[in-house]
This record gives sequence, structure tokens and C-alpha cells, in this order.
Amino acid sequence: VRKIWLSRHGESEYNQKGLIGGNSSLSNRGELYSRALREALIARLPQEEPVSVAVWTSTLKRTIETARFLPFPKLRWKALDEIDAGICDGMTYEQIAEQYPQEFEMRKKDKLRYRYPSGESYMDVIQRVEPVIIELERERECVLVVAHQAVLRAVYAYFMNVPPEDIPRLSMPLHTLIELTPMPDGTMSVQRFPVD
Ligand code: G3H
Repeated sequence: VRKIWLSRHGESEYNQKGLIGGNSSLSNRGELYSRALREALIARLPQEEPVSVAVWTSTLKRTIETARFLPFPKLRWKALDEIDAGICDGMTYEQIAEQYPQEFEMRKKDKLRYRYPSGESYMDVIQRVEPVIIELERERECVLVVAHQAVLRAVYAYFMNVPPEDIPRLSMPLHTLIELTPMPDGTMSVQRFPVD
């Protein structure tokens, strides 16, 4: 059976500082995850026959670094880059609440439709990942998608039929390998493997 795996990048330097967006490298913990992910993925592959996995990342350093040790061909998608936080890029949520209290409230009220000034909304992201989803459906090999929280919420929601309103708050923890397996009835079964 052809599986699809999803993983966020390993912890980044920005994650460590609580900053959103940016293009930082992995932290030491994130670097450990990139090595552990290789082992976790290999352990999930069928042992009987050699399988190749297509590894798709975003164009941001933290996903490329996370995929570094995976012994498979890699493809970079701009469409998998993290939600663009516009004028809030590089800030903490506390700083946003302080400097842009109205923006902060508006996002809290309607996280799905709220668009960061000069940036994107979840609706934008859901639309942006569509070509990736079309290719994911078309692809015959197993695929591991190494991307970001907001983007992976959108990809996961598509396969798991999550209603749009719930997408922005889906749980998508760091250092977890999500395995999607197509079932005969057309649905997907999901398993989560914490990797730490
Ligand atoms: O800044 C990027 C975050 O991964 C998105 O998280 O939409 O829950 O604020 P958020």
C-alpha cells in the first residue's frame, strides 16, 4: 500500500525563541530530529522489498535541513512554504498582541479567514497547497512531506476531510511522524509516531 507521511521540520532557532516565520536553521534539538527521522522512516518501510520514497520539502532552510539525511530523492516546493505572516514575520505572539492588538484579536476571532497585512490567511494557504495535493494524488511512490505547521494542517485536512473551520487549530506537533494509509473504502487511516 502506498503511504503518505507528513512531518514538520525539526525545531528551528526561531521555534526556540518563540518567533514566527523567518528562515532560520535547525536548533541542536532539531538537528537530532533530522537524524532520528531517518531511522523512524526506515523503520516504517516494508522490509521485504526495496522501496523508494519521494521526499518533498518547502524551499525554507528548516525543512531542507530536516530532510538532509533521508537517503531518497528530494523535491522543493515553494507551495509548501509556511504561511506568510506579513508584517508580523519574525515576531513572537506576545509582541504581535502588544504592537498590533487589533490584528491579534481579529486573528483570534476568525483564524481561518484572517489575512496578515502583506501576508496570507489559512484560506490562502489551503488554496496554495492545491497543486501539491494534486501531485500527491497522482504520485505512485510513497511520499514524505516535510513542511510547516499551517501548511501541513491544510494537507492533513484534505486527506482526513477536516472541515475548514477546524483547520487552523489542528494539532500538528513538532517531532512527530504522521502516517496516512489509504483504506479500501477510500478513507485514510492515520497513525502518529512521536520521534524524540
Ligand atoms: O507561523 C507559523 C505557525 O507555524 C503557524 O501557526 O497559524 O497557529 O499561528 P499558527
